[in-house]
Amino acid sequence: MAADVDKSPDGDESRHRVQNGSARPGTCSASWLRRGMWLLILVGAAPLLAFGVKYYKDAQLLRCHEQSVHVLGAEGLFLFSSLDTDHDFYLSPEEFRPIVEKLTGITPPTEVDEETIHDPNGETFTLVAKMQPLQLDSMTKSKDGFLGVSHSSLSGLRSWTSPAMPSSTLSASQFRVFLPPKNKVDVGATWWVIASELNIFTGYLPNNRYHPPTPKGKEVLIHSLLSMFHPRPFIKSRFAPQGTVACIRASNDFYFDIYFRIHAEFQLNEVPNFPFWFTPGQFTGNIVISKDGSHVRHFHLYVPNNRSLNVDMEWLYGASESSNMEVDIGFLPQMELMSTGPSTPSVIIDEEGNVIDSKESNQDPIQFVFEDIIWTSEISHQEALQHMELTYYPFKKVDYLPFSEAFEKAAAENKLVHSILLWGALDDQSCSGRTLRETVLESSPVLALLNQSFISSWSLVKELEDMQADEKNPVLSVKARLHLESYNFPVEMMVALPNGTIVHHINANYFLDQTAMKPEEEGATFSFSGSFEDPSTSTYLGFLKEGLEKAKPYLTE
Ligand SMILES: *[C@@H]1O[C@H](CO)[C@@H](O)[C@H](O)[C@H]1NC(C)=O
Ligand SMILES: *[C@@H]1O[C@H](CO)[C@@H](O)[C@H](O)[C@H]1NC(C)=O
Ligand SMILES: *[C@@H]1O[C@H](CO)[C@@H](O)[C@H](O)[C@H]1NC(C)=O
Repeated sequence: MAADVDKSPDGDESRHRVQNGSARPGTCSASWLRRGMWLLILVGAAPLLAFGVKYYKDAQLLRCHEQSVHVLGAEGLFLFSSLDTDHDFYLSPEEFRPIVEKLTGITPPTEVDEETIHDPNGETFTLVAKMQPLQLDSMTKSKDGFLGVSHSSLSGLRSWTSPAMPSSTLSASQFRVFLPPKNKVDVGATWWVIASELNIFTGYLPNNRYHPPTPKGKEVLIHSLLSMFHPRPFIKSRFAPQGTVACIRASNDFYFDIYFRIHAEFQLNEVPNFPFWFTPGQFTGNIVISKDGSHVRHFHLYVPNNRSLNVDMEWLYGASESSNMEVDIGFLPQMELMSTGPSTPSVIIDEEGNVIDSKESNQDPIQFVFEDIIWTSEISHQEALQHMELTYYPFKKVDYLPFSEAFEKAAAENKLVHSILLWGALDDQSCSGRTLRETVLESSPVLALLNQSFISSWSLVKELEDMQADEKNPVLSVKARLHLESYNFPVEMMVALPNGTIVHHINANYFLDQTAMKPEEEGATFSFSGSFEDPSTSTYLGFLKEGLEKAKPYLTE
């Protein structure tokens, strides 16, 4: 049913009426535009959240801040805070590490995790990195020749024309991180390799960082893979959904074919330029690996390039908290890692028990022969990709039922109907429906509440008008009439009793006005509130809870 939302009803008349309707241009902009604006606002707010909330609450930290500005100046403090990841105004040795690496050129040894220990005599294979740089002329800002974009902002982007490491030899056992947990070994099983730490309550990771945090555990391998493209990969993106998901596409007695999807990004600029964030839509790919993790048959990782734009970019303009952030999108034709062949042992033992170095150059290299893999159980790669998508975008997990089914189910389960009524012909500029779907309805608190207490449904005004006129189905006709009586153009969200009585409703334009913030208000809204919650989520949660409250007297226990 959700798929029908953007469908226009027949007839030019309705289209015409929409154009003369009461949609206010400022409220109902294209959804990507609105998303862009959200992004802008939230991007701008992230550093504020990160240290704003803390120090306004604490007078001591406020003094620290004033002192630091005095000693370092705004730009110096910006640099300092980019290292001071816990915002306590002191640098720990760990926080100082990027500077040490920069000055000495030596990477201090990282903690060795059990998961990353590898057998020196184990199998190894070679990965080749390929990339074609971002097409600058695909960026919106290229249209006016990057007018007003300072050269230093784009310096990291312009100079990044090839992989940092064209090839690398890795040990097969490192790739164990892609193996499933013990309880997820069936085809179709999906799990987080690197769990997201962001949710609607934790907010966003700050922009004012240059160096990725030291990777830990399973992050170590992903970090070293993405480091082949650029030295500063951030394995956890600043914005949700972050993390790495994997799914078993196929298996047999000895092998898994595991698909994965990574939401990570790169920071391209170096001091004294301000950070530039380069965020591909996703990294995806697959690995064919033996179940014991000792042998990798095939590895492929890439940024999908089948869309006309596949990279989001954001860069800062200054050191102050109110600094502007620029946003653009562009096309990256190629970014991929490919294994040159299956992993092979470096040492083998012949029949007499002699150790032979398989890669020794004074004899003919040993030829390995690999049998074809026959899968005994598998799903299509589209299915595997879809499993991973659902893991990242859980709002797609709540069913939106057709109108009549929703009421039947609500009656059977003694739940309320969460109903969204849209004017169908809004398809092109259907900001409201899409804005809801892409932001509010995917937030986990809203999802949880909808799942627990509501049956959800989308309908078109045209459908309900037909239903209302249908004399053969008087029960449904009444429900449709009650809906239409509470409806206001262009989209109305409603909470209804199973018998059709509307207990609460809110108009989308009103909702967006409530939650939209103008840039000049952003500081006021964000820095003092202490709340990390996306305002549209909390407003929508409030709406649903009020609906529940109003329905209480009617619902039987
Ligand atoms: C791009 O490729 C992915 C994965 O192969 C596929 O799921 C998606 O539908 C494709 N998108 C387009 C626009 O072709
Ligand atoms: C919805 O609730 C059911 C049972 O209460 C649970 O099993 C399911 O995972 C939930 N779904 C979502 C998307 O939260
Ligand atoms: C639905 O039920 C409530 C109470 O149970 C009642 O007040 C209301 O009138 C009913 N609505 C319809 C349309 O029957």
